[in-house]
Amino acid sequence: MSLSLIAEPDYYLFCEERLGNPYPLFDRLRAEEPVHWCEPMKLWLVTGYDDCFAGLKDERFSSDRTDMYVQALPEEMCIRVQPLLDHVSKWIQLTDEPDHTRLRKLVNLAFTPRMIQQLKPRIEVLVDALLDDVSVDEPTDLIAKFCGPLPATVICEMLGIPVAERDAFRLMTERVMHFSTAGGPRLKNHAEDAAEALKGLIDMFERLIAERRTTAKDDLLSALVRAETDGERLSNEELYAMCVFVFLAGHETTTNGIASGVLALLQHPDQFAALKGDVDGLMRGTVEEALRYESPVTRAVRKAREDFDFGGKTIKAGQLVVFLLGAANRDPKQFPEPAKFDIRREIKRHLAFGFGAHFCLGAVLARMEMEIAFRAFVRRQPNVKLATEALAWKPTMGIRALVKLPVSVS
Ligand code: HEM
Repeated sequence: MSLSLIAEPDYYLFCEERLGNPYPLFDRLRAEEPVHWCEPMKLWLVTGYDDCFAGLKDERFSSDRTDMYVQALPEEMCIRVQPLLDHVSKWIQLTDEPDHTRLRKLVNLAFTPRMIQQLKPRIEVLVDALLDDVSVDEPTDLIAKFCGPLPATVICEMLGIPVAERDAFRLMTERVMHFSTAGGPRLKNHAEDAAEALKGLIDMFERLIAERRTTAKDDLLSALVRAETDGERLSNEELYAMCVFVFLAGHETTTNGIASGVLALLQHPDQFAALKGDVDGLMRGTVEEALRYESPVTRAVRKAREDFDFGGKTIKAGQLVVFLLGAANRDPKQFPEPAKFDIRREIKRHLAFGFGAHFCLGAVLARMEMEIAFRAFVRRQPNVKLATEALAWKPTMGIRALVKLPVSVS
């Protein structure tokens, strides 16, 4: 194999843990071998914008990859955690047509633009209340106080999870997420705990869904129970899978979109000052640039349905292909000077929300939350500063997530 960097420690580090700064490696992969077989992980890594764009709409790639979990677990463990594997196989993101089309149609009925727009005043109130709690006297972790609670509360309210059960719900879904985002050999460390947490989640949803069947409320859970198209409804198992997945997909992602955006503004005082000077004119560009610059979801995974040539390489049926969205969004062919955070950059299609059939269902909501958060932040905290230079990123494959964002307000 020609790629010079495969002998380097960074490469192996990337294969085991996410790097604090993956971009130099992404840049080298894109320049030297944009479709690259990663031997330690036994999968393809795709780093160029055009290849990612083409791959995400290429029907020769399947989204159904539950068997990657099965293959990574010892056989007897697979038997023990079978209900977890069955549940994960129903996540909309892991389905292909015709199931995917049916699930997407049903969830679209419940997830209408009108419903999202109606959330706006409530999100504004939540943002203000959370910022009231950001101390001006001592350094505060903005993720714990603001970027984390906001999307979690929005989704819990939207779904209709009772206030008293929200913490338990969040903790249980996080245990399932540790399993779904752990790659390869790490999966087995999380499988049994995730299976246990899932039991609790299903108990909770069984109860809540039974209540909605008798008395519908004005929430997403009632809308999902009601949703019917072509005489079809979601089965109970599909309903549980949709509720768990929507929370997983919309919570940490949006937390990171807000946190990384605020971080980028604080690290680029000229850009922060420009935004303060023209909030209406530059807000859309700020949201899109934040999503491009530190894409919260760094990869979209697919499996080849057949042998075929892609990006100059022959991909074999059954092989996994990782489209590195965070790398595509820093491709200089698509975004000149990609390492520059520039809120006035010409807005072009980035891949932070994916592309094609599985394009993010919550993109409108996520953009709205980011915009409301940034607006309030500029208005309420104009003198905020980073309280540390030592920032740590979570060692998780698939998401780009700060551990903490300590700030102080002068
Ligand atoms: C900044 C925040 C967000 C980012 C960066 C993001 C990113 C993504 C990406 C990249 C995908 C496609 C994955 C693939 O092709 O395999 C996706 C799918 C999805 N997202 Fe988001 N997302 C965000 C927020 C949300 C929110 C707020 C929700 C819901 C409340 C949500 C729900 C979903 C769902 C249900 C899917 C699966 C769609 C399908 O498979 O048809 N996301 N998201």
